[in-house]
Amino acid sequence: MTALPGPEDLVGPYDPEAVAVFGGGGHAKQCIDLLQMTTGHRAAAVVDDTLPVGSSVHGVEVVGGVDALAALRVRGVRLAVNAVGGIFHPGARESVFATLVEAGFAFPVLVHPTAWVEPSAALAAGSQVFAQSYIGSAARIGAGALVNVGVIVNHDCVVGDMVKLSPGAMLAGEVAVGESALVGMGATVNVRLRIGARARVGNGATVVADVPDDGVVRAGARWPARPE
Ligand SMILES: CC(C)(COP(=O)(O)OP(=O)(O)OC[C@H]1O[C@@H](n2cnc3c(N)ncnc32)[C@H](O)[C@@H]1OP(=O)(O)O)[C@@H](O)C(=O)NCCC(=O)NCCS
Repeated sequence: MTALPGPEDLVGPYDPEAVAVFGGGGHAKQCIDLLQMTTGHRAAAVVDDTLPVGSSVHGVEVVGGVDALAALRVRGVRLAVNAVGGIFHPGARESVFATLVEAGFAFPVLVHPTAWVEPSAALAAGSQVFAQSYIGSAARIGAGALVNVGVIVNHDCVVGDMVKLSPGAMLAGEVAVGESALVGMGATVNVRLRIGARARVGNGATVVADVPDDGVVRAGARWPARPE
């Protein structure tokens, strides 16, 4: 879903396919490939404060940092993709979205053609669903959520805004994941549980009870630990 252009967008050029890629690291490569694999989108420019202007990421030109956003809008670029994975920097994706919203960009939903999204599922603006993932019946994926490769989100799950689901994470039916939480690679979450907001579930963890807000489940652990 793409936000409708506002009145200010009716003036000047408007390129409906052009997408600004914010961030030039590893996740940007994933996003550029994802844009190439979805119809109606084209990676028009990379925006990254740390890379030289004129260099390129995956064949897409770096046009500058945050200061370049206004010029992109003048060129008719109205869409942006948040290409900052932020795995080691909690809050990084959130601040990128805030910057892009302030600069007037809207965020397409991107779904890789090999992912399967049931028709009754709903995906909010800026969500990204990568290859070989499954979004089940009546599931809800929040704004800006990142569903990495090979993830299973089963029926009736509610995945909050800005959540990160790492490769191979599995959510059983009716799981709720609070905003900005992270579920690690290959972790499993049993049916009807809640992962709290900003919680971090480590790789390969087995979650069999609710995780509180800001909770941390260690990689490879069972949550809660079995009694001795
Ligand atoms: C975010 C992320 C780093 C979190 O990982 P994590 O599980 O919390 O933490 P680590 O991988 O650092 O592992 C912590 C420890 O658990 C161990 N561990 C990892 N997986 C384990 C498993 N399945 N079983 C047992 N132990 C495990 C590690 O060896 C490490 O041990 P150490 O502390 O003795 O060195 C990880 O999920 C990730 O890389 N996700 C993003 C994946 C990606 O590619 N994203 C694309 C770009 S956005």
